[in-house]
Amino acid sequence: MSTLHVLDHPLIVHKLSLMRNKKTGSKEFRELLNEIAMLMGYELTRDLPLEDIEIETPVAKMTAKKISGKKLAIVPILRAGLGMVDGLQKLVPVAKVGHIGLYRDPETHTPVEYYCKLPLDVEKRTVILVDPMLATGGSACDALTMLKNKGCHDIRFMCLVAAPEGVKAVQEAHPDIDIYTAALDEKLNEHAYIVPGLGDAGDRIFGTI
Ligand code: PRP
Ligand code: URA
Repeated sequence: MSTLHVLDHPLIVHKLSLMRNKKTGSKEFRELLNEIAMLMGYELTRDLPLEDIEIETPVAKMTAKKISGKKLAIVPILRAGLGMVDGLQKLVPVAKVGHIGLYRDPETHTPVEYYCKLPLDVEKRTVILVDPMLATGGSACDALTMLKNKGCHDIRFMCLVAAPEGVKAVQEAHPDIDIYTAALDEKLNEHAYIVPGLGDAGDRIFGTI
């Protein structure tokens, strides 16, 4: 069964509260989102394996450690997932970035695919799928299926705010995938928006409200 990790470090909680406030403008919203993505990325990469390397400091030779094995891929779900990429790339500058384009049909709230471009060797990488909002879970479930169809088998899903409905949907459809979120909110409203949530993440990032 997949595990739900709620990363409620005080810095993350504080920054998320600023983002939730409707008075917060796009510039600050984007900055906070990237800062939280970096803080969450720190936890999400905690189990990356290390290997020994021989180096020389100015004082002596030593056996040091470096991250070993598989490389990372960061895959945002467009549009809003883009808002978390810079923060993660600051942590892992060599990570490759793929893009999955999905939008929610305004009537049915089901996701519609419009773009998919992934690193050629994505199946050999540890994939961090990112999207700030996990509402019904439709977008995350479809993106995870697309990644698995490309051969990916080491995937973690990172969001900012999750609804219980979305967590349930991902855990049922993809029981092998761990979910990392900064907050688990109360519910969805009749428009499938997260309550209390933070509104439309894509619109607040790109100023398209
Ligand atoms: C939002 C959000 C997620 C999706 C979550 O994207 O960024 O991708 O909705 O909802 P779900 O869990 O019910 O699928 P949206 O479709 O609004 O597109 P955008 O990012 O381009 O604004
Ligand atoms: N997408 C958003 O951007 N916000 C929500 O609350 C739900 C879906």
